[in-house]
Amino acid sequence: MNLSLTEDQKMVQSMAREFALKELEPKAAEIDASGEFPSDSIKKMAKLGLLSMVVPEKYGGAEFDFVSLAVAIEEISRACGSTGVITAVHNSLACWPIVNWGTDALKEKYLPRMATGELLGAFGLTEPNCGSDPAGMETKAVPDGDHYLLNGTKRFITNGGAADVFVVFALTDPAAKHRGITCFVVEKDFPGFSVGKHEDLLGLRATSNCELIFEDCKVPKENVLGEIGKGFKVAMGTLDVSRIDIGAQAVGIAQAALDKSLAYSQERKQFGRPICEFQMIQEKLAEMATSILAARLLTYNAAFQKDAGKKRFSREAAMAKLFAASTAVEVTREAVQIFGGYGYTKDYPVERYFRDAKCMEIYEGTSEIQKIVIARSLLA
Ligand code: CAA
Repeated sequence: MNLSLTEDQKMVQSMAREFALKELEPKAAEIDASGEFPSDSIKKMAKLGLLSMVVPEKYGGAEFDFVSLAVAIEEISRACGSTGVITAVHNSLACWPIVNWGTDALKEKYLPRMATGELLGAFGLTEPNCGSDPAGMETKAVPDGDHYLLNGTKRFITNGGAADVFVVFALTDPAAKHRGITCFVVEKDFPGFSVGKHEDLLGLRATSNCELIFEDCKVPKENVLGEIGKGFKVAMGTLDVSRIDIGAQAVGIAQAALDKSLAYSQERKQFGRPICEFQMIQEKLAEMATSILAARLLTYNAAFQKDAGKKRFSREAAMAKLFAASTAVEVTREAVQIFGGYGYTKDYPVERYFRDAKCMEIYEGTSEIQKIVIARSLLA
Protein backbone atom coordinates (compact mmCIF):
# COMPACT_ATOMS: atom_id res chain seq x y z
CA MET A 1 0.00 0.00 0.00
CA ASN A 2 1.43 3.37 -1.01
CA LEU A 3 0.57 6.14 1.44
CA SER A 4 2.51 8.91 -0.34
CA LEU A 5 1.00 11.61 -2.48
CA THR A 6 1.78 11.49 -6.20
CA GLU A 7 3.88 14.23 -7.80
CA ASP A 8 0.71 15.88 -9.15
CA GLN A 9 -0.96 15.77 -5.74
CA LYS A 10 2.16 17.27 -4.13
CA MET A 11 2.08 20.06 -6.71
CA VAL A 12 -1.54 20.88 -5.85
CA GLN A 13 -0.61 20.80 -2.16
CA SER A 14 2.28 23.25 -2.49
CA MET A 15 0.32 25.56 -4.81
CA ALA A 16 -2.63 25.65 -2.38
CA ARG A 17 -0.34 26.07 0.64
CA GLU A 18 1.59 28.94 -0.91
CA PHE A 19 -1.60 30.72 -1.96
CA ALA A 20 -3.27 30.15 1.41
CA LEU A 21 -0.32 31.46 3.40
CA LYS A 22 0.11 34.53 1.24
CA GLU A 23 -3.48 35.45 0.47
CA LEU A 24 -5.83 33.83 3.00
CA GLU A 25 -4.10 33.67 6.37
CA PRO A 26 -3.41 37.42 6.66
CA LYS A 27 -7.12 38.18 6.11
CA ALA A 28 -8.66 35.34 8.12
CA ALA A 29 -9.08 37.19 11.44
CA GLU A 30 -10.42 40.29 9.71
CA ILE A 31 -13.13 38.48 7.73
CA ASP A 32 -14.02 36.43 10.81
CA ALA A 33 -14.64 39.69 12.69
CA SER A 34 -16.45 41.51 9.88
CA GLY A 35 -18.27 38.52 8.39
CA GLU A 36 -17.30 39.83 4.95
CA PHE A 37 -17.40 37.20 2.19
CA PRO A 38 -13.87 36.90 0.70
CA SER A 39 -14.89 37.60 -2.93
CA ASP A 40 -11.45 38.86 -4.01
CA SER A 41 -9.67 35.76 -2.70
CA ILE A 42 -12.26 33.52 -4.37
CA LYS A 43 -11.60 35.22 -7.73
CA LYS A 44 -7.86 34.63 -7.31
CA MET A 45 -8.52 30.98 -6.42
CA ALA A 46 -10.47 30.53 -9.64
CA LYS A 47 -7.38 31.55 -11.62
CA LEU A 48 -5.41 28.77 -9.89
CA GLY A 49 -8.01 26.15 -10.79
CA LEU A 50 -9.18 25.85 -7.19
CA LEU A 51 -12.82 26.42 -8.17
CA SER A 52 -12.82 23.81 -10.94
CA MET A 53 -11.17 20.92 -9.15
CA VAL A 54 -13.82 18.35 -10.08
CA VAL A 55 -14.84 19.89 -13.41
CA PRO A 56 -13.65 17.94 -16.48
CA GLU A 57 -11.10 19.65 -18.73
CA LYS A 58 -13.70 19.47 -21.51
CA TYR A 59 -15.68 22.13 -19.63
CA GLY A 60 -12.63 24.22 -18.76
CA GLY A 61 -11.96 22.53 -15.42
CA ALA A 62 -8.72 21.52 -13.71
CA GLU A 63 -10.07 17.94 -13.33
CA PHE A 64 -8.02 17.03 -10.26
CA ASP A 65 -8.61 13.75 -8.47
CA PHE A 66 -10.41 13.64 -5.10
CA VAL A 67 -7.21 13.17 -3.09
CA SER A 68 -5.93 16.43 -4.63
CA LEU A 69 -9.22 18.10 -3.75
CA ALA A 70 -8.87 16.95 -0.11
CA VAL A 71 -5.26 18.11 0.04
CA ALA A 72 -6.19 21.54 -1.36
CA ILE A 73 -9.13 21.97 1.04
CA GLU A 74 -6.86 21.04 3.96
CA GLU A 75 -4.31 23.70 3.00
CA ILE A 76 -6.95 26.38 2.44
CA SER A 77 -8.66 25.57 5.75
CA ARG A 78 -5.34 25.61 7.58
CA ALA A 79 -5.19 29.30 6.70
CA CYS A 80 -8.89 30.19 6.80
CA GLY A 81 -11.75 27.89 7.82
CA SER A 82 -14.38 30.07 6.12
CA THR A 83 -12.61 29.98 2.78
CA GLY A 84 -12.12 26.23 3.21
CA VAL A 85 -15.83 25.51 3.31
CA ILE A 86 -16.71 28.10 0.66
CA THR A 87 -14.35 26.23 -1.67
CA ALA A 88 -15.58 22.79 -0.63
CA VAL A 89 -19.23 23.73 -1.18
CA HIS A 90 -18.58 25.21 -4.62
CA ASN A 91 -16.54 22.21 -5.80
CA SER A 92 -18.26 19.24 -4.20
CA LEU A 93 -21.78 20.32 -3.42
CA ALA A 94 -22.42 22.45 -6.51
CA CYS A 95 -20.06 21.51 -9.38
CA TRP A 96 -19.89 17.81 -8.59
CA PRO A 97 -23.63 16.96 -8.77
CA ILE A 98 -23.82 18.79 -12.12
CA VAL A 99 -20.78 16.83 -13.37
CA ASN A 100 -22.23 13.53 -12.16
CA TRP A 101 -25.97 13.87 -12.80
CA GLY A 102 -26.28 16.77 -15.26
CA THR A 103 -27.41 16.40 -18.87
CA ASP A 104 -24.88 17.52 -21.50
CA ALA A 105 -26.92 20.69 -21.93
CA LEU A 106 -26.83 21.48 -18.18
CA LYS A 107 -23.10 20.82 -18.05
CA GLU A 108 -22.53 23.15 -21.01
CA LYS A 109 -24.80 25.75 -19.47
CA TYR A 110 -23.12 25.92 -16.05
CA LEU A 111 -19.77 24.16 -15.71
CA PRO A 112 -17.57 26.42 -17.87
CA ARG A 113 -18.69 29.50 -15.93
CA MET A 114 -18.48 27.72 -12.57
CA ALA A 115 -14.95 26.66 -13.48
CA THR A 116 -13.81 30.24 -14.07
CA GLY A 117 -15.50 31.47 -10.91
CA GLU A 118 -17.94 33.63 -12.90
CA LEU A 119 -20.68 31.61 -11.18
CA LEU A 120 -20.27 30.56 -7.55
CA GLY A 121 -22.26 27.55 -6.36
CA ALA A 122 -24.23 26.57 -3.25
CA PHE A 123 -26.38 23.64 -2.09
CA GLY A 124 -29.93 23.99 -0.76
CA LEU A 125 -31.06 20.93 1.18
CA THR A 126 -31.55 21.97 4.83
CA GLU A 127 -34.78 23.72 5.83
CA PRO A 128 -36.01 25.40 9.02
CA ASN A 129 -37.80 22.15 10.00
CA CYS A 130 -35.47 19.58 8.43
CA GLY A 131 -31.76 19.18 9.07
CA SER A 132 -30.76 15.63 9.94
CA ASP A 133 -33.90 14.33 8.21
CA PRO A 134 -33.87 15.83 4.71
CA ALA A 135 -36.59 13.40 3.60
CA GLY A 136 -38.90 15.48 5.81
CA MET A 137 -38.48 18.57 3.64
CA GLU A 138 -41.43 20.87 2.94
CA THR A 139 -40.26 22.80 -0.15
CA LYS A 140 -42.45 21.80 -3.09
CA ALA A 141 -42.10 21.98 -6.86
CA VAL A 142 -45.13 21.78 -9.14
CA PRO A 143 -45.04 21.62 -12.95
CA ASP A 144 -46.29 24.70 -14.79
CA GLY A 145 -45.89 24.48 -18.58
CA ASP A 146 -42.15 24.47 -19.42
CA HIS A 147 -41.26 25.26 -15.82
CA TYR A 148 -41.55 24.09 -12.24
CA LEU A 149 -42.75 26.50 -9.58
CA LEU A 150 -40.81 26.10 -6.33
CA ASN A 151 -42.19 27.21 -2.96
CA GLY A 152 -40.42 26.92 0.37
CA THR A 153 -37.44 28.05 2.42
CA LYS A 154 -33.93 26.64 2.77
CA ARG A 155 -31.86 27.51 5.83
CA PHE A 156 -28.18 27.53 6.89
CA ILE A 157 -26.96 27.69 3.30
CA THR A 158 -23.21 28.20 3.04
CA ASN A 159 -22.39 30.72 0.25
CA GLY A 160 -26.15 31.51 0.27
CA GLY A 161 -25.83 35.28 -0.07
CA ALA A 162 -22.86 35.15 -2.46
CA ALA A 163 -23.69 32.31 -4.84
CA ASP A 164 -25.10 32.60 -8.35
CA VAL A 165 -26.19 28.98 -8.86
CA PHE A 166 -27.91 26.69 -6.35
CA VAL A 167 -28.39 22.93 -6.35
CA VAL A 168 -31.80 22.76 -4.68
CA PHE A 169 -34.05 19.91 -3.55
CA ALA A 170 -37.85 19.99 -3.54
CA LEU A 171 -40.78 17.59 -3.30
CA THR A 172 -42.38 16.86 -6.67
CA ASP A 173 -44.49 14.06 -5.14
CA PRO A 174 -44.99 14.75 -1.43
CA ALA A 175 -46.84 11.45 -0.79
CA ALA A 176 -43.81 9.46 -1.94
CA LYS A 177 -41.58 11.04 0.78
CA HIS A 178 -37.86 10.56 -0.06
CA ARG A 179 -38.80 8.96 -3.39
CA GLY A 180 -40.72 12.11 -4.31
CA ILE A 181 -37.78 14.52 -4.05
CA THR A 182 -36.30 16.09 -7.19
CA CYS A 183 -33.12 18.13 -7.61
CA PHE A 184 -33.03 21.44 -9.54
CA VAL A 185 -30.39 23.93 -10.60
CA VAL A 186 -31.65 27.38 -9.68
CA GLU A 187 -30.07 30.68 -10.68
CA LYS A 188 -30.18 33.66 -8.36
CA ASP A 189 -31.94 35.72 -11.04
CA PHE A 190 -34.83 33.31 -11.56
CA PRO A 191 -38.13 35.06 -10.78
CA GLY A 192 -39.41 34.20 -7.30
CA PHE A 193 -35.98 33.53 -5.80
CA SER A 194 -34.60 35.69 -3.01
CA VAL A 195 -32.01 35.51 -0.23
CA GLY A 196 -33.33 35.84 3.32
CA LYS A 197 -31.77 36.16 6.76
CA HIS A 198 -27.99 36.18 7.06
CA GLU A 199 -26.95 33.95 10.00
CA ASP A 200 -24.72 35.43 12.70
CA LEU A 201 -22.64 32.30 13.26
CA LEU A 202 -20.33 31.25 16.10
CA GLY A 203 -17.56 30.37 13.62
CA LEU A 204 -17.01 30.18 9.85
CA ARG A 205 -18.38 33.68 9.93
CA ALA A 206 -17.38 34.80 6.44
CA THR A 207 -19.36 32.14 4.58
CA SER A 208 -22.44 34.25 3.77
CA ASN A 209 -24.63 31.64 5.44
CA CYS A 210 -28.18 32.64 4.51
CA GLU A 211 -31.75 31.55 4.03
CA LEU A 212 -33.00 30.96 0.49
CA ILE A 213 -36.62 31.83 -0.21
CA PHE A 214 -38.65 30.39 -3.10
CA GLU A 215 -41.98 32.07 -3.87
CA ASP A 216 -43.41 30.59 -7.05
CA CYS A 217 -39.81 30.48 -8.20
CA LYS A 218 -39.82 29.67 -11.93
CA VAL A 219 -37.28 26.99 -12.81
CA PRO A 220 -37.10 25.69 -16.40
CA LYS A 221 -37.77 21.97 -16.75
CA GLU A 222 -34.36 21.47 -18.38
CA ASN A 223 -32.84 22.47 -15.02
CA VAL A 224 -33.94 19.25 -13.35
CA LEU A 225 -30.74 17.55 -12.17
CA GLY A 226 -30.96 13.77 -12.43
CA GLU A 227 -34.31 12.02 -12.66
CA ILE A 228 -37.64 13.19 -11.29
CA GLY A 229 -38.11 11.64 -7.84
CA LYS A 230 -34.44 10.64 -7.55
CA GLY A 231 -33.26 13.80 -5.84
CA PHE A 232 -32.71 12.14 -2.46
CA LYS A 233 -30.06 9.90 -4.00
CA VAL A 234 -28.45 12.93 -5.65
CA ALA A 235 -28.31 14.61 -2.22
CA MET A 236 -26.89 11.56 -0.43
CA GLY A 237 -24.40 10.73 -3.20
CA THR A 238 -23.23 14.35 -3.24
CA LEU A 239 -22.83 14.45 0.53
CA ASP A 240 -20.67 11.30 0.36
CA VAL A 241 -18.18 13.28 -1.74
CA SER A 242 -18.47 16.46 0.24
CA ARG A 243 -18.02 14.80 3.64
CA ILE A 244 -14.49 13.92 2.54
CA ASP A 245 -13.85 17.65 2.10
CA ILE A 246 -15.19 18.38 5.56
CA GLY A 247 -12.79 15.75 6.91
CA ALA A 248 -10.02 17.63 5.08
CA GLN A 249 -11.25 20.98 6.38
CA ALA A 250 -11.22 19.65 9.95
CA VAL A 251 -7.69 18.29 9.48
CA GLY A 252 -6.53 21.69 8.16
CA ILE A 253 -7.99 23.60 11.10
CA ALA A 254 -6.53 21.09 13.59
CA GLN A 255 -3.13 21.29 11.89
CA ALA A 256 -3.17 25.08 12.17
CA ALA A 257 -3.93 24.77 15.89
CA LEU A 258 -1.03 22.35 16.36
CA ASP A 259 1.36 24.56 14.34
CA LYS A 260 0.54 27.56 16.49
CA SER A 261 0.70 25.52 19.72
CA LEU A 262 4.14 24.15 18.87
CA ALA A 263 5.51 27.64 18.23
CA TYR A 264 3.86 29.23 21.27
CA SER A 265 4.85 26.49 23.70
CA GLN A 266 8.50 27.04 22.75
CA GLU A 267 8.30 30.82 23.26
CA ARG A 268 6.13 31.06 26.34
CA LYS A 269 8.07 30.74 29.58
CA GLN A 270 6.64 29.86 33.00
CA PHE A 271 8.55 28.79 36.10
CA GLY A 272 11.71 29.91 34.23
CA ARG A 273 11.33 27.44 31.33
CA PRO A 274 9.54 27.27 27.96
CA ILE A 275 6.24 25.52 28.66
CA CYS A 276 7.01 22.85 26.00
CA GLU A 277 9.47 21.41 28.50
CA PHE A 278 6.62 20.41 30.79
CA GLN A 279 5.37 16.89 30.23
CA MET A 280 1.71 17.87 30.52
CA ILE A 281 2.18 20.18 27.50
CA GLN A 282 4.19 17.51 25.69
CA GLU A 283 1.38 15.02 26.23
CA LYS A 284 -1.07 17.43 24.63
CA LEU A 285 1.21 18.07 21.64
CA ALA A 286 1.82 14.34 21.12
CA GLU A 287 -1.88 13.48 21.27
CA MET A 288 -2.81 16.37 18.97
CA ALA A 289 -0.26 15.31 16.34
CA THR A 290 -1.26 11.64 16.52
CA SER A 291 -4.97 12.25 16.08
CA ILE A 292 -4.36 14.72 13.25
CA LEU A 293 -2.36 12.13 11.33
CA ALA A 294 -5.05 9.49 11.94
CA ALA A 295 -7.74 11.92 10.74
CA ARG A 296 -5.70 12.82 7.66
CA LEU A 297 -5.18 9.16 6.76
CA LEU A 298 -8.90 8.42 7.14
CA THR A 299 -9.65 11.40 4.90
CA TYR A 300 -7.12 10.38 2.25
CA ASN A 301 -8.46 6.83 2.44
CA ALA A 302 -12.01 8.00 1.67
CA ALA A 303 -10.77 10.18 -1.21
CA PHE A 304 -8.61 7.33 -2.48
CA GLN A 305 -11.62 4.96 -2.49
CA LYS A 306 -13.55 7.49 -4.56
CA ASP A 307 -10.63 7.92 -6.99
CA ALA A 308 -10.26 4.14 -7.25
CA GLY A 309 -13.83 3.97 -8.52
CA LYS A 310 -15.51 2.42 -5.47
CA LYS A 311 -19.22 2.84 -6.13
CA ARG A 312 -20.41 3.36 -2.59
CA PHE A 313 -17.92 4.94 -0.18
CA SER A 314 -20.45 6.38 2.30
CA ARG A 315 -18.88 4.49 5.20
CA GLU A 316 -15.33 5.70 4.47
CA ALA A 317 -16.50 9.30 4.00
CA ALA A 318 -18.56 9.20 7.21
CA MET A 319 -15.66 7.73 9.17
CA ALA A 320 -13.32 10.43 7.88
CA LYS A 321 -15.74 13.23 8.72
CA LEU A 322 -16.68 11.80 12.13
CA PHE A 323 -13.12 11.28 13.30
CA ALA A 324 -11.66 14.44 11.76
CA ALA A 325 -14.46 16.58 13.24
CA SER A 326 -13.92 15.33 16.77
CA THR A 327 -10.15 15.66 16.28
CA ALA A 328 -10.57 19.28 15.21
CA VAL A 329 -12.75 20.10 18.22
CA GLU A 330 -10.41 18.36 20.67
CA VAL A 331 -7.17 19.69 19.16
CA THR A 332 -8.41 23.29 18.98
CA ARG A 333 -9.72 23.04 22.57
CA GLU A 334 -6.28 21.88 23.70
CA ALA A 335 -4.63 24.66 21.69
CA VAL A 336 -6.70 27.24 23.61
CA GLN A 337 -5.61 25.50 26.82
CA ILE A 338 -1.92 25.65 25.86
CA PHE A 339 -2.24 29.37 25.10
CA GLY A 340 -4.00 29.86 28.48
CA GLY A 341 -5.45 33.35 29.00
CA TYR A 342 -4.06 34.51 25.65
CA GLY A 343 -5.83 31.64 23.92
CA TYR A 344 -9.13 33.06 25.15
CA THR A 345 -8.49 36.41 23.47
CA LYS A 346 -8.59 37.54 19.86
CA ASP A 347 -4.86 38.38 20.02
CA TYR A 348 -4.19 34.84 18.81
CA PRO A 349 -6.04 32.76 16.20
CA VAL A 350 -6.67 29.67 18.33
CA GLU A 351 -10.03 30.87 19.66
CA ARG A 352 -11.16 31.24 16.01
CA TYR A 353 -9.99 27.73 15.19
CA PHE A 354 -11.98 26.48 18.21
CA ARG A 355 -15.15 28.27 17.04
CA ASP A 356 -14.68 27.16 13.42
CA ALA A 357 -13.97 23.54 14.40
CA LYS A 358 -17.29 23.07 16.21
CA CYS A 359 -19.24 23.30 12.97
CA MET A 360 -17.46 20.21 11.63
CA GLU A 361 -19.52 18.15 14.10
CA ILE A 362 -22.74 19.74 12.89
CA TYR A 363 -22.92 20.49 9.18
CA GLU A 364 -23.01 18.04 6.28
CA GLY A 365 -24.55 15.55 8.69
CA THR A 366 -23.95 15.74 12.45
CA SER A 367 -21.51 13.31 14.09
CA GLU A 368 -24.54 11.33 15.27
CA ILE A 369 -25.70 11.00 11.63
CA GLN A 370 -22.21 9.85 10.56
CA LYS A 371 -22.42 7.08 13.18
CA ILE A 372 -25.80 6.02 11.75
CA VAL A 373 -24.31 5.88 8.24
CA ILE A 374 -21.33 3.82 9.46
CA ALA A 375 -23.43 1.42 11.56
CA ARG A 376 -26.00 0.88 8.78
CA SER A 377 -23.19 0.08 6.37
CA LEU A 378 -21.64 -2.39 8.83
CA LEU A 379 -24.99 -4.09 9.39
CA ALA A 380 -26.09 -4.13 5.73
N1 CAA B 1 -25.94 7.14 -1.82
C1 CAA B 1 -26.96 6.71 -2.60
N2 CAA B 1 -28.19 6.38 -2.11
C2 CAA B 1 -28.37 6.50 -0.78
C3 CAA B 1 -27.35 6.93 0.07
C4 CAA B 1 -26.09 7.26 -0.49
N3 CAA B 1 -25.08 7.67 0.28
N4 CAA B 1 -27.82 6.95 1.35
C5 CAA B 1 -29.09 6.52 1.29
N5 CAA B 1 -29.41 6.25 0.00
C6 CAA B 1 -30.68 5.73 -0.51
C7 CAA B 1 -31.08 4.43 0.16
O1 CAA B 1 -30.50 3.34 -0.51
C8 CAA B 1 -32.57 4.45 0.04
O2 CAA B 1 -32.91 4.09 -1.28
P1 CAA B 1 -34.33 3.42 -1.71
O3 CAA B 1 -35.30 4.54 -1.80
O4 CAA B 1 -34.06 2.81 -3.03
O5 CAA B 1 -34.71 2.44 -0.64
C9 CAA B 1 -32.90 5.93 0.20
O6 CAA B 1 -31.72 6.65 -0.14
C10 CAA B 1 -33.32 6.29 1.60
O7 CAA B 1 -32.27 5.90 2.47
P2 CAA B 1 -32.46 5.81 4.05
O8 CAA B 1 -33.68 4.99 4.35
O9 CAA B 1 -31.15 5.39 4.63
O10 CAA B 1 -32.78 7.33 4.40
P3 CAA B 1 -33.05 8.04 5.78
O11 CAA B 1 -34.19 8.96 5.60
O12 CAA B 1 -33.13 7.05 6.89
O13 CAA B 1 -31.76 8.98 5.95
C11 CAA B 1 -29.56 9.57 6.65
C12 CAA B 1 -30.47 8.53 6.02
C13 CAA B 1 -28.15 9.04 6.54
C14 CAA B 1 -29.91 9.85 8.09
C15 CAA B 1 -29.66 10.88 5.81
O14 CAA B 1 -30.91 11.47 5.98
C16 CAA B 1 -28.62 11.92 6.14
O15 CAA B 1 -27.48 11.84 5.67
N6 CAA B 1 -28.98 12.98 6.95
C17 CAA B 1 -28.07 14.11 7.16
C18 CAA B 1 -28.36 15.21 6.20
C19 CAA B 1 -27.18 16.09 5.95
O16 CAA B 1 -26.05 15.64 5.89
N7 CAA B 1 -27.43 17.37 5.75
C20 CAA B 1 -26.36 18.28 5.42
C21 CAA B 1 -26.90 19.48 4.77
S1 CAA B 1 -25.84 20.19 3.60
C22 CAA B 1 -24.72 21.12 4.43
O17 CAA B 1 -24.56 21.03 5.61
C23 CAA B 1 -23.91 21.95 3.53
C24 CAA B 1 -23.22 23.11 4.15
O18 CAA B 1 -23.77 24.06 4.57
C25 CAA B 1 -21.76 23.10 4.17
